[in-house]
Amino acid sequence: MTTLHTPLCDYLGIDVPIIQAGMGRGTGSTTSPALVAAVSEAGGLGCLGATGWDPEEIREKIREVRALTARPFGVDLLLPASLADADVPRDDVRALVRRDHPAHARFMESLYERFAVDPSFKHPQHWALSPTLMRQQADVVLEERVPVLVSGLGDPAWVVPLAHEAGIKVMGLVGAPRHAERQIRSGVDIVIAQGSEAGGHTGTVATLALVPQVVDQVTPTPVVAAGGIADGRTVAAALALGAQAVWCGTAFLFAEEAYVHASLRAQLTAAGARDVVVGRSYTGKPSRVVVNEVTRAWAESGLEPLPMPLQTVIMDDFTYAAERSGRPDLVQNPAGQIAGMLDRHEPAATIVRRLVDEAVAVIGDLPRYLSPGRNA
Ligand SMILES: Cc1cc2nc3c(=O)[nH]c(=O)nc-3n(C[C@H](O)[C@H](O)[C@H](O)COP(=O)(O)O)c2cc1C
Repeated sequence: MTTLHTPLCDYLGIDVPIIQAGMGRGTGSTTSPALVAAVSEAGGLGCLGATGWDPEEIREKIREVRALTARPFGVDLLLPASLADADVPRDDVRALVRRDHPAHARFMESLYERFAVDPSFKHPQHWALSPTLMRQQADVVLEERVPVLVSGLGDPAWVVPLAHEAGIKVMGLVGAPRHAERQIRSGVDIVIAQGSEAGGHTGTVATLALVPQVVDQVTPTPVVAAGGIADGRTVAAALALGAQAVWCGTAFLFAEEAYVHASLRAQLTAAGARDVVVGRSYTGKPSRVVVNEVTRAWAESGLEPLPMPLQTVIMDDFTYAAERSGRPDLVQNPAGQIAGMLDRHEPAATIVRRLVDEAVAVIGDLPRYLSPGRNA
């Protein structure tokens, strides 16, 4: 039986070039150990999206994955942009918004009122932004010798030598060709090129334009394509662009094993490609999410969302309170444009198999477009 296999598969010790993207959430993650293990067991590479977990929680999840599979898997983290950055407590940010951004503070009050969300709930984490916490999270991944560490945002330069010492491979995610250069200087082993179609924080260059430029820039470092990949056609296209694997987020939001609340699943299923838009309302940084009543309210307010971490802190409080006030549908629902094509909920192993089987069929079918030419 024909399957897909690239040199990167051998390097990672996996059978097929399908990687399930790390997908964190404010105080949790979409990527359950069951999801990660199922993808790895199916021959791909599962990846815990660990940014929203405390260090000991990350350790627990890593061990849960290990109890379910002996195959390779990864952990995705946001690393500090600089080790010199200071930790910022959420209370300081809350006070700053009240003092310096009264219009935003008033708008937030109106949001709580309008959606009957109880404002006495506050996001429980002490830090709004904590390079210390990020380092502690990375330390757990190093101590546990997880096969692959993925750096979603930030500068992995400090962690690469430590990871290599522990036998860990490092992947760095980029959204623009010029960012690839920095990742190479940092010493990453693999570059993920994530186009603007992707769910979550995203840049402005589309996958079709980004991947070949990054490939040209970083060869011989292998490139993984991300953004808008969710069926055999898009997997085949990514390989044609020079990628050696795909990093799929949105496709695995539809996996039965993913942690996705039923109300968010319903939004995802109903969403068309144009209902998944880039905005700054939840975090202050451009992020592609399914439009909902909250993103619409921000758009109608005429207010520019505040920069990160100010916007993150005020909106984390709101979404934490919304979940506890019976409105989980108001929570940030990151997803990519390809969600418009997806509506089937399936086991993760079925998704991996389908991506491979369909891609094999698409690639096998392409020679029908080859012709000897007029003068042959
Ligand atoms: C729900 C969700 C959460 C995400 N969280 C993270 C994250 O915590 N860290 C990260 O590096 N990327 C995150 N991303 C981006 C994905 O890792 C991946 O790059 C993206 O989903 C690929 O594009 P696609 O959604 O079109 O497949 C997230 C994406 C989604 C959909």
